[in-house]
Amino acid sequence: MPDAVFAHPRLAAVYDAFDGDRDDLVAYLGIAAELGARRVVDVGCGTGSLALLLAASGRTVVGVDPAAASLDIARSKDAARGITWIHGDAATVPAADFDLALMTGNVAQVFLTDDDWARALRSIHAALGPEGHLVFETRRPERRAWEDWAASRRHLVLDVPGTGPVEQRLDVTEVSLPFVSFRCTYTFLTDGEVLTSDSTLRFRSRDEVESSLTAHGYQVRDVREAPDRPGREFVVIARVGG
Ligand SMILES: C[S@@+](CC[C@H](N)C(=O)[O-])C[C@H]1O[C@@H](n2cnc3c(N)ncnc32)[C@H](O)[C@@H]1O
Repeated sequence: MPDAVFAHPRLAAVYDAFDGDRDDLVAYLGIAAELGARRVVDVGCGTGSLALLLAASGRTVVGVDPAAASLDIARSKDAARGITWIHGDAATVPAADFDLALMTGNVAQVFLTDDDWARALRSIHAALGPEGHLVFETRRPERRAWEDWAASRRHLVLDVPGTGPVEQRLDVTEVSLPFVSFRCTYTFLTDGEVLTSDSTLRFRSRDEVESSLTAHGYQVRDVREAPDRPGREFVVIARVGG
């Protein structure tokens, strides 16, 4: 079950507003160009921010996500770009000779067990063509991002077009490494409705990430910085083939 922040229709509708301007996605468009990718699958596409940019750059794009409410938002933004939206998860990506599979927004951290992560890696491997690449980001555990989250006691009020003012509060609820749990509480100030979303993420070390990729038939080509978040992320570029 995806977290409420992605799966509840009222929360999915305000997700983009709280997600900011998405400077992070430019680097992934650059990587798609660098790899010459024409057919791209956006795994965990959410509300479609990256898929739309990829399609606007002339690529054939499939977006896959288990949160129907987020996919509805994505579809509503996709006027005529011909993106294929699939309600499914990383373990059910269709095999379609993709050149590139992308997981932005730290989707890789939602796979909490080794089995879940293995299923995702296997399914994506089968979905890629013989020269295909998997590219994703995951937060560096040594950077201890959760300490910033806890210290900031984030509390934000945004006036969301079509919805009105919404307050978001983030509380770190448990740190039991490699797992970090947090709760986002949203208050819709126009009618007072309060909705909460609980999330747990897994922080894998670079060694864990690389060895799991190798074990599932990928070759790690590069591990880079995210240009907009230096020192915080591993951006992993892996190719199918040993
Ligand atoms: C932080 S959002 C990122 C969305 C999008 N990639 C972006 O960059 O805007 C994480 C997404 O992962 C999706 N997700 C959760 N579990 C998943 C799974 N097992 N397979 C694929 N996606 C999943 C959620 O529904 C959510 O849309």
